[in-house]
Amino acid sequence: MNKNIDISNVILKTQRMILRPWKDTDLNDFYEYAKVDGVGQLAGWTPHKNIEESKVILDIFIEGKKTFAIEYQNKVIGSLGIECYNEENYPKFNSFQGREIGYVLSKDFWGQDIMPEAVKAVIQYLFEVENLDFILVCHSDRNKQSARVVQKCGFKYIKTIKYDAIENSIHSILYNPSRK
Ligand SMILES: CC(C)(COP(=O)(O)OP(=O)(O)OC[C@H]1O[C@@H](n2cnc3c(N)ncnc32)[C@H](O)[C@@H]1OP(=O)(O)O)[C@@H](O)C(=O)NCCC(=O)NCCS
Repeated sequence: MNKNIDISNVILKTQRMILRPWKDTDLNDFYEYAKVDGVGQLAGWTPHKNIEESKVILDIFIEGKKTFAIEYQNKVIGSLGIECYNEENYPKFNSFQGREIGYVLSKDFWGQDIMPEAVKAVIQYLFEVENLDFILVCHSDRNKQSARVVQKCGFKYIKTIKYDAIENSIHSILYNPSRK
C-alpha cells in the first residue's frame, strides 16, 4: 500500500546538491529546463509552452508536498517525486508500505551522475526515516537513460506492463534491507 508522506519540512544534502521542497521563487529555473525539447517527453509530458504552464505545475508540486526540487550550485535543475504507485498492479504488496519515485533533470546536466546521487539520497530517506518496505520505479523501454539510473541505484527488474501498442513500461523494485 502507499504510505502517506509529507516532505514539506525535509531537506536532504548530498555531496553536490540539496534536495528540498519547491518554492514559488523556483519558477524561472523550472521553466528554463521544462521548456526544452526532449526532456519532459521521456517522462510522459510535453515541453512547457510558456511560464504560466510551469507555474501551474509548480503550484501542484508545492501543494502536493511530495516532490523534491534538486538544487545544484544555487539553481534548481530537476525534480524528484515520491509518487503514489498503482496498487492494482501490485496486489502482493498490499500489506507492505511503499511508494514509486519519478525524476527529471535539466538537459544541461545529463551524464554527470547527478540523478543517481539524488535518487540514492531519497532511497536512504525513504528507508531510514519513512521506514518504507519497498520503492518502485518505472520507465518506458525506450528510455535507456532512466534505465541506467535504475541500475546504478540497485533496483531489480520485476515486471513489464504494456501501456500502448508500441511502448512497454519496465517496472523495478528495491526492498528495504532491514525489512524482516
Ligand atoms: C534519466 C535522467 C534523469 C538521468 O539523469 P543523469 O543525471 O543524466 O543520469 P546519469 O548521469 O547516470 O546518466 C544516465 C545515462 O544517460 C546517458 N546519457 C548521458 N548523457 C547523455 C546525453 N547528453 N544524452 C543522452 N543520453 C545521455 C548515458 O547512457 C548514461 O549512462 P552511463 O553513465 O552509463 O553512460 C535524465 O536523462 C533525464 O532527466 N531524462 C529526461 C526525463 C526522464 O527520462 N525521466 C525519467 C522518466 S522514467
